[in-house]
Amino acid sequence: MYFPSYRMRRLRQTEQIRNLVHETDLLPDRLVYPMFVTHGENKRAEIQSMPGCYQQSISHLVEEAKEVRDLGIPAVLLFGIPAEKDDIGSGAYDEEGIIQMAVSALKEAVPELLVITDVCLCEYTSHGHCGIVRDGDVDNDLTLEMLAKMALSHAESGADIVAPSDMMDGRVAAIRSALDAEGLINTPIMSYAAKFASAFYGPFREAAESSPEFGDRRSYQMDYRNSDEAVREVLLDIEEGADMVMVKPALPYLDVIFRVKQETKFPLAAYNVSGEYAMIKAAAAAGWLDEKHAVLEAMTAMRRAGADVIITYHAKDVASWLGR
Ligand code: PBG
Repeated sequence: MYFPSYRMRRLRQTEQIRNLVHETDLLPDRLVYPMFVTHGENKRAEIQSMPGCYQQSISHLVEEAKEVRDLGIPAVLLFGIPAEKDDIGSGAYDEEGIIQMAVSALKEAVPELLVITDVCLCEYTSHGHCGIVRDGDVDNDLTLEMLAKMALSHAESGADIVAPSDMMDGRVAAIRSALDAEGLINTPIMSYAAKFASAFYGPFREAAESSPEFGDRRSYQMDYRNSDEAVREVLLDIEEGADMVMVKPALPYLDVIFRVKQETKFPLAAYNVSGEYAMIKAAAAAGWLDEKHAVLEAMTAMRRAGADVIITYHAKDVASWLGR
């Protein structure tokens, strides 16, 4: 059947009819809000390239986390900025490190909010790389030990989910066995499985003070020309025991999100990264885009591509626009 018997516009006539047949839902239940916690007292500084996002000390973090919960957002993803950095990132697994303290404060004040922690050394190393550097490059196997210690200390502080973002080979298995050995068999691992070496992380590196001092991350993060490899990365992490997987960034990689979902059927998160956020914020501030509509369209596109979960700096706005 075709025109004039068939008219696609029949089901687009009114809001009610469009709502009745819409295919993709966007609900606050699917959102994760990333937050940056810094050492010290009573600090709260807006991140210049990420308007509306803050580097803040623990008491302010807790206050904002309550707001996040009240908006119906189920989870936050935490990044820490330690007071001191060194070659081996020892602040990352310090029992009294910034994340460890922040997690316990959050779990005490807002216990129903899921706390996911980013597991990666780049915020803790003086050179800004995601692992231990040897002979000018990140040493994979040495780094695994550190990551396992880090994930374990997060889980012991009360983190609900640990999320390794370093892109070392074998880290999911290393973390799983470290957690299991300590009886933390029920702590899920959300792995940044297909994480690309991307220019879109620029604003985050200002926020997390984690730019590499020399070189770049292309010897461990993925080459953006590849999507077969993304599927292999994801399948390897699943074999190693990942409970959820992630594609990152999101908008320039919707094809990868789609493929990963189709080929694995695993719980999948899309990370709508700092540069994606900054682009919309900047265009909206200049009056060039309708922020609300642009953001809702972008979020829905990630869901339509196959993402179950969306990690986004827009989460608070999205949840308030969607209402409860
Ligand atoms: C840490 C990490 C990064 C991001 C999340 N975890 C930065 C990087 O790999 O350089 C980026 C997040 C964002 O841009 O929003 N390795």
